[in-house]
Amino acid sequence: MIQCPRGTRDFLPDEMEKRRFYENELRHVAKTFGFREVETPIFEDAELFILRSGPNVLKELYAFKDKGDREIALRPEMTAPAIRMFVNNMSNDPKPIKIFYFGQCFRYERPQSGRYREFFQFGAELIGSATPETDAEVISMAASMIKALGLNEYKIRIGHIGVLRQRIADIGVPTERTAEVLQKLDKKLYEEARPLLEEMGVSGTDIDGVFELTETVGGIDVLDRVPGDAGDYLRQVVGYLSAMGVNDIEIDLGVVRGLDYYTGMVFEAEAPSLGAEKQICGGGSYTLSELFGGEKVFSTGFAIGFDRILLAMEKEGKVYEPKGVDAYVLAVSEDMKLKAAEVVASLRGSGVSSDIDIMGRKMGKALKYASAIRARYAVIVGAKEMEEGSVTLRDMSTGEQKLVKVEDLASEIKR
Ligand code: HAM
Repeated sequence: MIQCPRGTRDFLPDEMEKRRFYENELRHVAKTFGFREVETPIFEDAELFILRSGPNVLKELYAFKDKGDREIALRPEMTAPAIRMFVNNMSNDPKPIKIFYFGQCFRYERPQSGRYREFFQFGAELIGSATPETDAEVISMAASMIKALGLNEYKIRIGHIGVLRQRIADIGVPTERTAEVLQKLDKKLYEEARPLLEEMGVSGTDIDGVFELTETVGGIDVLDRVPGDAGDYLRQVVGYLSAMGVNDIEIDLGVVRGLDYYTGMVFEAEAPSLGAEKQICGGGSYTLSELFGGEKVFSTGFAIGFDRILLAMEKEGKVYEPKGVDAYVLAVSEDMKLKAAEVVASLRGSGVSSDIDIMGRKMGKALKYASAIRARYAVIVGAKEMEEGSVTLRDMSTGEQKLVKVEDLASEIKR
């Protein structure tokens, strides 16, 4: 039997209904924040991701040559495609530009719970602005989305990658090796970071200083310990967030991010219930447009790991009840089949989701099927009732039945 490839999943109707429901909740929040939806191709020139995504993404890239000998990659994330789209088509639009997207991404990772090779991101980019308000707007939308889905246990941590980049440069790490160091710090692999830094000639005291910086964690009071302008900047971000009612955040200069393009504020949200793969959202401010042939434009964005946030909701016991059709129509006898077809057509025309028996089942079996597909009502079309233009409407949850005129059926069901 052929199975779906490792790290990918099929989504059956119940699961798909649930996913679409929550996906639309997220869309709704994005729209209330004034963001508009876009879509980019699932595959791109591999170069788009090779230019700046960093070593983590590179080794996980699904890249191949197409029949025209072009280097193609399945998108591992959607920020680079969104900025490419901006450079190609939107660079003259009034700023800021607020866009959001939902779709699958591909990373050749070792699959485990919450980590897939094909996964879905819901993300947003606010392009062309670099103020504390910009960052607050984006973090606040991410927080609203997590809330809208009803997740209770999560933590949002805000940091500033500029501080760490500056410190790493100051202690003598060459620019081209910064990503390597950040990658270790992102994963908190201090015992691997130390020899790496030593090999670059960094002193023990300076190494300790860097590690200490990544351990700067706490409430806004720790911002006093942040060197340079970053502390002040983050204080303003936090101020705006507080005005917008987002208070459940933590400052953490150890937020490094796995991608290479961030320049300033960075943030992550995690759901502790998920264990190892607990990061449900990540983002920050960055510049990418200049790499893709455009002018340098500052942006801030984030992406929610849609599969992970659903897993976290499940862990908290949140259940989604799939809905069935509103009505299941069945004919009592052979000679009523055409009448039943007319009834189902008129229900559908009135916007009532309805299904009809097409297998000539006897009443008992047909009702059993109706309950298996979670129909709210069964509409039983019998000859005697039809003489008066009526059908029997059966409430599938209570078993109660009553006669209803065909012309009143749709409004009765909608009631
Ligand atoms: P990222 O942190 O690499 O950031 O991915 C965002 C989220 O996608 C993660 O927090 C995680 O929830 C989810 N995710 C990542 N890999 C997997 C996987 N293999 N399986 C399941 N879920 C996964 C970005 O991709 C940036 N583009 C976010 C961004 C937008 N930054 C600025 N704008």
